[in-house]
Amino acid sequence: MQQWDVIVIGAGAAGLMCAIEAGKRGRKVLILDNGKRVGRKIIMSGGGRCNFTNMYSSPENFLSHNKHFCKSALSRYSQWDFIALVQKHNIAYHEKTLGQLFCDNSAKDIVDMLLTEAKTAGVQIALQQQIQQVSKTEAGFIVDTPDVSRACHSLVVASGGLSLPNLGATAFGFQLAEQFGLNVLPLRAALVPVTWQPADKAVFEEISGVSLPVTVEANGTLFPEDMLFTHRGLSGPAILQISSYWQPGDDITVNLSPETDINEFLTNQQQSHPEQELKTALSKLLPKRLVEKLLDMQLVTNQPLKALHNKTIQNIANSLHSYIFKPNGTEGYRTAEVTLGGVNTNDLSSKTMAAKQHDNLFFIGEVVDVTGWLGGYNFQWAWASGWVAGQYC
Ligand code: FDA
Repeated sequence: MQQWDVIVIGAGAAGLMCAIEAGKRGRKVLILDNGKRVGRKIIMSGGGRCNFTNMYSSPENFLSHNKHFCKSALSRYSQWDFIALVQKHNIAYHEKTLGQLFCDNSAKDIVDMLLTEAKTAGVQIALQQQIQQVSKTEAGFIVDTPDVSRACHSLVVASGGLSLPNLGATAFGFQLAEQFGLNVLPLRAALVPVTWQPADKAVFEEISGVSLPVTVEANGTLFPEDMLFTHRGLSGPAILQISSYWQPGDDITVNLSPETDINEFLTNQQQSHPEQELKTALSKLLPKRLVEKLLDMQLVTNQPLKALHNKTIQNIANSLHSYIFKPNGTEGYRTAEVTLGGVNTNDLSSKTMAAKQHDNLFFIGEVVDVTGWLGGYNFQWAWASGWVAGQYC
């Protein structure tokens, strides 16, 4: 039987970071992954440029049943630590928007960096491994694959969430947690487009491709970003962000003109251009195709501005500042960026990421009930939780 100090399951962001840190401590580390290559989500992230962290990352950017759990890891391995690593490898990067850092060239630069670090730290990687069974022994764990049984002192579960099953996502980590008596909180697709109710689809699918800056609100949380109409529903960063806070049956309230008070704007236009049509005036604020759709829907009636009463202007403004969509659902794990929920942090040490009941069993990255906003936060959690576990496994 092969003997290892540490076996890490999952060669994604968290698993690679953990293995590197453990290897640097002189631990004999093996990563097992079911895929043909490492870091598949890193490669395809950020449109191929990997939004690898966020300059403004802080615990407020994460969802978890225990909001305090992520604080320790995020403070001990911060965005600045990861940026320093990226700089050490001379990887060119830039801030796209809102503190989101992307590679100038390719996400592959990040994977190459991690592989270089892993090699230097003596980490071994075995790909295309089908793990059949994990059992506990007095000395640690035994991990069985069809060809070989491997023993280890510490086992690190970094097998990620359920999004993109065609990229190798499995429920392995959640099942293993349950096998060892840890609680797994309900799982849900997040950072995901929402889908139309049939009636809305009939109305809005014609304007798919229209995008505009909005603020979206659900359950008391608000995001200012762009929203995109698609054939299936609503997408764009604003919608992906709010999807993490939206529950089935909830409304999403959209302010279609967050920067300009429509009441004030139309009143001013009415005074300066009384003959102007409402459609023309609104098209100065909103995409023309959306305005035409609102007219089709008879949400607003086209007429010269001079014919509009103050009350009508106020009503138009109110409905456009708080337009209510009631999604049918989400596109699910097929397109979601992350999985909400996961291994209950009450069962883990925030200092080490080890299970409270099993000192040498660790859970890191997306498999844990810590989910970041869109914008590099999820990778930052993967790096930070992986780094922390790497100090103790
Ligand atoms: P990750 O999923 O990266 O790795 C898990 C590994 O475990 C995989 O290699 C998988 O094959 C392996 N595995 C699973 N089951 C196994 C089993 N049974 N046996 C062996 N191995 C197994 N975040 C961000 O911050 N910035 C961004 O730009 C993006 N962009 C983005 C785009 C897209 C399309 C997606 C789907 C996601 C993102 N994300 C993101 C989210 C980010 O990719 C995600 O949060 C991290 O990859 C999570 O890292 P982990 O290491 O926890 O899991």
